[in-house]
Amino acid sequence: MLETTFVDYTFNNPLMNASGVHCMTQKEMDELSESAAGAFVTKSATLQHRDGNPEPRYYDVPLGSINSMGLPNLGLQYYLDYALDRQNKFETPMFFSVAGMSVDENIEMLKVIQESDYKGITELNLSCPNVPGKPQVAYDFPLTEEILTKVFAFFTKPLGIKLPPYFDLAHFDEMADVLNKFPLTYVNSVNSVGNGLYIDTESEEVVIKPKDGFGGIGGEYIKPTALANVRAFYTRLNPSIKIIGTGGIRSGKDVFEHLLCGATMVQIGTELHKEGPAIFERISKELEELMTEKGYHSIDEFRGKLKSIVD
Ligand code: SIN
Repeated sequence: MLETTFVDYTFNNPLMNASGVHCMTQKEMDELSESAAGAFVTKSATLQHRDGNPEPRYYDVPLGSINSMGLPNLGLQYYLDYALDRQNKFETPMFFSVAGMSVDENIEMLKVIQESDYKGITELNLSCPNVPGKPQVAYDFPLTEEILTKVFAFFTKPLGIKLPPYFDLAHFDEMADVLNKFPLTYVNSVNSVGNGLYIDTESEEVVIKPKDGFGGIGGEYIKPTALANVRAFYTRLNPSIKIIGTGGIRSGKDVFEHLLCGATMVQIGTELHKEGPAIFERISKELEELMTEKGYHSIDEFRGKLKSIVD
């Protein structure tokens, strides 16, 4: 019932982790691979191993989370070795996320992936809000176009990009015009809402250390923004560019809403961090129950079919 075709692959369901949550080490990725998730994505890699920002750098709050991890990861080669080994054992592909500190680093990493035997899907993260001194790339439209022009001059494997949330219809239009120029496989909307501030009233202190407490907000707080971004890009992008919906998913109903807005796959971050990989079984079941109640037999029957209010 939940089977999902994405690129040329069929996944058991559309559920994935969001990059950064439960995907740093081989053990965590194996746990995702063995879970009920349809697919999984690695932590965003940089060319070299990175320790990331000082701790505390992730904090769960009742309506979501705040983080400023700063891209801690074990380096490109670690994830590439894992991916190459895994593809000899499994038919369904994984997603490999990269987030360079510069245009050149992104190009260098994508060249390594292009020249390798890696057959899966690659995600270029242009939206991390947490590296001090490095603005979120995809808020700079000309820079995004420049990067994609350089990338698609040599990269021929399936490639998606992870976007930050946008908040203005003019920005959706402008970014969609840029993205429609390229043979992207997908866009992933949204990364965390950058540079929020969560405060502990009692101690009168921020809750994470980096950037004086400023960090990316995830979870329930951001679902309406995530849905708007999914819908805005679904209605603006070439149909060949699929959407991965990320943001605020805690239940099967939340997944249903992302799919209704046009997402093909969905990713779960904050709630996966709170519940662990068993969440995928719970949410698949909830989604199936909701679809049964509504009389749907497959996701394709309602994907993207959000209704507007007409007179
Ligand atoms: C981080 O490592 O800071 C989170 C990754 C991201 O937001 O892209």
